[in-house]
Amino acid sequence: MMTGKIAAVNGPVVDVEFSGAEALPGMYEILEALDRFGRQVTLEVMEHLSQTRVRCISLATSINVVRGSEVRSTGKVIEVPVGEKVLSRVLNVLGQPIDGLGPIEAEKMKPIRRRDKKFLLNPEMRERQKFEILETGIKMVDLLFPLIKGSKNGILGGAALGKSLLTLEVIHNVVHKHHGACVFTGVGERIREGHELYHELKRTGILDRVALVYGQMDEPPGARFEAILTGITLAEHLREKNQDVLFFVDSVYRFAQAGMEVSTLMGHIPSETGYQPTLSSEMSEFHERIQTEAAGSITAVESVYVPADDLTDPAVVTIFSYLDSIVVLSRARVQKGLYPAIDPLLSSTVNLDPDIVGKRHFDIAQETLRILRRLEELNHIVSVIGIEELSKSDRLLYERGLRLQNFLTQPFFTAELHTGRPGAYVPVGQTLNGCRMILDGRFDQVPEDKLYLIGELQERRREG
Ligand SMILES: Nc1ncnc2c1ncn2[C@@H]1O[C@H](COP(=O)(O)OP(=O)(O)OP(=O)(O)O)[C@@H](O)[C@H]1O
Ligand SMILES: [Mg+2]
Repeated sequence: MMTGKIAAVNGPVVDVEFSGAEALPGMYEILEALDRFGRQVTLEVMEHLSQTRVRCISLATSINVVRGSEVRSTGKVIEVPVGEKVLSRVLNVLGQPIDGLGPIEAEKMKPIRRRDKKFLLNPEMRERQKFEILETGIKMVDLLFPLIKGSKNGILGGAALGKSLLTLEVIHNVVHKHHGACVFTGVGERIREGHELYHELKRTGILDRVALVYGQMDEPPGARFEAILTGITLAEHLREKNQDVLFFVDSVYRFAQAGMEVSTLMGHIPSETGYQPTLSSEMSEFHERIQTEAAGSITAVESVYVPADDLTDPAVVTIFSYLDSIVVLSRARVQKGLYPAIDPLLSSTVNLDPDIVGKRHFDIAQETLRILRRLEELNHIVSVIGIEELSKSDRLLYERGLRLQNFLTQPFFTAELHTGRPGAYVPVGQTLNGCRMILDGRFDQVPEDKLYLIGELQERRREG
């Protein structure tokens, strides 16, 4: 191992000078330094500045790192513990436990950056791949954007539209029923939410099947950027052990943003979009690792923060292209109290296919979408000329549309605090039956608010 000296510290960017007698540490190699209080600071090599000097990004706060202090090279890139032992634990980007429960005695350590890129599935396997639906118990999701094992699903929306709660609800409902493991990666989001999730998982008894990786908003950009790679490394290893893995990220946008910060700090010139020139390669490198193999699968649910509600933001658009399902949350629906605030007309998916969900499901979904689209158009007319002016048939469609729209709202288990109602899990069969009955006009006489924030339809009918 070589030793060098800190030559310059510029925020999270640290330059290290070596004597030049030996080869410099390689790209992404980890260097260890001590700050002036004797705390270890991990640096990752990002660039070779000269034959004796490397530029690193710090993965912990570098505020107390001083010039001239000694740095040791390790000959390694970031390696994290993998395997069953990480379940129920909380890790940071370096794979160190941050839950205060002692060291993780893992069977194996794995580098978070992969060199063996055997990315493409062989075509034969793709043919044999069966589509398996993971029921979420969330009406709108199961009906219109079914979660297929091995797919990549995005939850998009501006600030405070319910991305995190929808992600948590999926975790809550799917992990309970599903017999695989789950990896949750918190990237650049609130530390409080990280704590809440941990305690919620513990309370509901599913913590032992979940591994948590956090690189939250208090961490330097390098740590926020790499945390997602740490998360996917844990998921990949569980998949190799024949498991079906659910992989959650909140939020992928923060990964893009951290990449931009790193790029700017390194002095790279942004592309004309304002983001780092490496944005799409970073996104693809990460997303290509989410894939299904003979042994097991990885199903990804990623929340995507949309800055200023602008769906044409270049980073958001780049993320789009890797997703099979795009569930868009809208502010207009939040303002009407329609939770989950999924806008079915802005969202899209390749998973809603009669060969996957079956013909009946497909037809009900298409009919529902048709009515919701008509409702949207009629809403504009009604707001101008009033409901009285609608033709008889339009009025019928309008009122049926309102009932359908209300039926597709749902009280969440994870939002009990916000709604004051107990959560409801609705099996997809019940969702289909409910929609079918409304589409057939069997609820035309029931006031529409009776269908608001309920679970299944039957129970309501008995009451009403
Ligand atoms: N399904 C829901 N039912 C009831 N209330 C909800 C629901 N989803 C979201 N909310 C309300 O909206 C608030 C914001 O939700 P959440 O934190 O999930 O948003 P977010 O999109 O993750 O926001 P941010 O971009 O700030 O992370 C919640 O605190 C809650 O009051
Ligand atoms: Mg959030």
